[in-house]
Amino acid sequence: MANSNSLVIRAFALSLFFVVSKCLLSIPLKIYTGKYNLSSAVDLTPLRQVLLMSDGNGLSLASDPTGTVNFLDMVNNLQGDSGRGYYIEMSLGTPSQKLNILVDTGSSNFAVAASAHPFITHYFNTALSTTYESTGRTVAVRYTQGNWEGELGIDKVSIPKGPNGTIIINIAAILTSDGFFLPGVNWQGILGLAYPMLARPDSSVEPFFNSVVKQLGIPDIFSLQMCGGGLSASSTADLAGGSLIMGGAEPALYFGPVWYTPIVEEWYYQVEVLKLEVGDQNLDLDCREYNMDKAIVDSGTTLLRLPVNVFNAVVAAITRSSLIQEFSLGFWEGSKLACWIKGETPWRFFPKLSIYLRATNTSQSFRITILPQVNGFTALIVPLSLS
Ligand SMILES: *[C@@H]1O[C@H](CO)[C@@H](O)[C@H](O)[C@H]1NC(C)=O
Ligand SMILES: *[C@@H]1O[C@H](CO)[C@@H](O)[C@H](O)[C@H]1NC(C)=O
Repeated sequence: MANSNSLVIRAFALSLFFVVSKCLLSIPLKIYTGKYNLSSAVDLTPLRQVLLMSDGNGLSLASDPTGTVNFLDMVNNLQGDSGRGYYIEMSLGTPSQKLNILVDTGSSNFAVAASAHPFITHYFNTALSTTYESTGRTVAVRYTQGNWEGELGIDKVSIPKGPNGTIIINIAAILTSDGFFLPGVNWQGILGLAYPMLARPDSSVEPFFNSVVKQLGIPDIFSLQMCGGGLSASSTADLAGGSLIMGGAEPALYFGPVWYTPIVEEWYYQVEVLKLEVGDQNLDLDCREYNMDKAIVDSGTTLLRLPVNVFNAVVAAITRSSLIQEFSLGFWEGSKLACWIKGETPWRFFPKLSIYLRATNTSQSFRITILPQVNGFTALIVPLSLS
């Protein structure tokens, strides 16, 4: 979820079914260390990067240099799907209360329901935690979808399928909300993994992962793998799940070359899109159009969102290259479904979509290719020298 004060809201959702599936894409992100002093065991690199993995062959990822974290113990610690988001189980307070927390790289507050709401099964009862301390400050966050208000407090938290140890973190106790908790979600809070600059009420509220790194001494890197097509937001059966590896990346989850893209500015995970292709057609827009007003990697958003001009160009290119004679207008607005003969798979009617990101060697780029299949997302990453 992106904070709605960003201009991302002026973008359109691409209403095709381009969704992450089959666990072939991972997005490990290095996180900003901000003004905090981290333990000397942590390797601080001046350039913060997003790492994208492909489904190629033969990756050797460096293992945890501190040797204290067992990444394999964190594999499959996420539940959820691309329709409703991915969440991790956490234990809050003393005695501990278990809650499911949505993993969101598009915001920076850790917030949990602290009062009842019709769409959630339970909430964090601060009065029952002997270690909860209110700071007396109020806090409010507005996302692209929904908002909440509450009070800032601190308490102990541990992650059953995360790094060993208990940490003291900032918690926003949500008291009122609007459009934030949705029917059918199985999470009760949100874990904002972006940089301190996005934290509310201000950047002095240390985000969760900064606290983890500081207090547990794990490397300042996490990786995220989200699985499954999540075709229907109403199917509760077989949640696909995924992994949030804190402290590095687990080699068993990925084979292939690793490419990094520089973070343009440390607030959201803002990256630079250099080119878009639909099938083999280069959209050939001015690359400022692709980054208008910014391009971000946001695990809390389940759709690929594009600026209006880019969206229109993508639709035009798909319409041109698709084997379907006529699309109803409503199809592109998401209000009409396209139908196929029973037993026929429509994927061959649609082209693939490739997004090119700048590489750390800034005169190179690499691409992520999204296939049209609901169950066949693939990220093919190949180097490209910019001409
Ligand atoms: C936590 O500690 C136990 C016991 O030392 C160890 O077996 C386990 O792998 C550790 N978990 C993680 C995630 O490092
Ligand atoms: C960066 O990429 C360019 C173009 O491919 C290449 O000529 C140059 O050697 C690369 N620089 C480094 C440091 O690898």
